[in-house]
Amino acid sequence: MSWIPRIVAAWEKVSSSSKLLSRIYSRPYKGVIENEIRLAGINSNDTVLNIGCGAVPFTALYLAQLADCMVYALDLDPVAAGHALKCVRKAGLEDRITVLHADGCIEFEPHFTVSIVALQAAPKAKILRALNKTASPGSRFIFRMPSLPYKNHYDSLHTGHLPRAETYQPMRTFDRSVLYQKAV
Ligand SMILES: C[S@@+](CC[C@H](N)C(=O)[O-])C[C@H]1O[C@@H](n2cnc3c(N)ncnc32)[C@H](O)[C@@H]1O
Repeated sequence: MSWIPRIVAAWEKVSSSSKLLSRIYSRPYKGVIENEIRLAGINSNDTVLNIGCGAVPFTALYLAQLADCMVYALDLDPVAAGHALKCVRKAGLEDRITVLHADGCIEFEPHFTVSIVALQAAPKAKILRALNKTASPGSRFIFRMPSLPYKNHYDSLHTGHLPRAETYQPMRTFDRSVLYQKAV
């Protein structure tokens, strides 16, 4: 793995214990999650599986706050998952967000209708296969795709299929979120 995802993951662990640092770090992603909520039409009837929640689970927190949906937030790093659970408790959102230590490549049993996969999550092709096996027909999957200058630092997704839709994201390391949908 490139050094950038490792630095980001370490930085999240440091900032997760400070409310101020977590807030400053998370703030630029609010618009990203708003774009993804629109992209997949996420609402309070949805249950979102967030793969790669990190120690500061801003995707899960914004989803629960902005779309009022239920979220499973998982990370394969047990330390990151432990920090994420503390952040969820501090935000008082444990009734909406369940944090799990798990690998997104492993088929996920509980029912979900949408998945949002972190930029750093890997390998994306294997994650997509696992999602396709377990999700119900019509489920939506969002992947954040690295921008050109950072494409060698992150795993990308090459499916041979065009995404159903995509949205521009004004971030340095990723510039779009793409939407796939399991056939009905
Ligand atoms: C640094 S975080 C960024 C996510 C961010 N906090 C969010 O809310 O979107 C990316 C995380 O993805 C996790 N990760 C990478 N591959 C994964 C996989 N296959 N399954 C679950 N988590 C994964 C890493 O352990 C890392 O903590």
